[in-house]
Amino acid sequence: MLDLVPIAIAIHALAAVVWVGGMFFAYTVLRPSLGKFEPPQRLTLWNDVFERFFVWVWMAVIALPLTGYYLTFEYLGGFGSAGMHVHIMHLTGLVMIALFVFLYFIAYRNYRGAVAAKDWPLAAKNLNTIRQIVGSNTVLGLLTVIVGASGRLWG
Ligand code: HEM
Repeated sequence: MLDLVPIAIAIHALAAVVWVGGMFFAYTVLRPSLGKFEPPQRLTLWNDVFERFFVWVWMAVIALPLTGYYLTFEYLGGFGSAGMHVHIMHLTGLVMIALFVFLYFIAYRNYRGAVAAKDWPLAAKNLNTIRQIVGSNTVLGLLTVIVGASGRLWG
């Protein structure tokens, strides 16, 4: 029978790279590079960036738990026999996903509405919330990648 474990690990790792790498780039490279633009330009550009990036984040947010649970049960024999690193990754992964769902359905929804209405102060306020959540998720994501990638050696 076809062994899906290597495929699941590959998809899991790719989803982590795309999501965490994208947030890292947005936070540490793109954000400080846009300071010279006026608010209407900057806030409209972020709107376009989010519209494209969040499609990829949704794919990652669906793929990570699907492949993660598959690996836990098919490869490691369930949560009872999985190492501590899988429990930590499970917890931090679910927190990251919950933060993204909140970001998408509350802060980003308000942000999009404010940009469409050209209400720049309201857009800036919601962008600040998005920035804080993305900042937290970047740190959590980097830690989760460390735990996920190194955990089999200590977990
Ligand atoms: C529902 C949440 C998750 C579950 C149940 C889960 C489960 C797993 C399992 C079972 C493994 C294999 C561990 C081993 O070989 O000992 C793994 C590996 C890994 N996970 Fe997760 N994971 C989850 C979320 C995440 C998230 C959110 C990230 C990063 C953003 C992540 C990043 C990684 C990485 C980088 C690896 C190592 C891949 C490799 O080098 O082979 N995981 N995960």
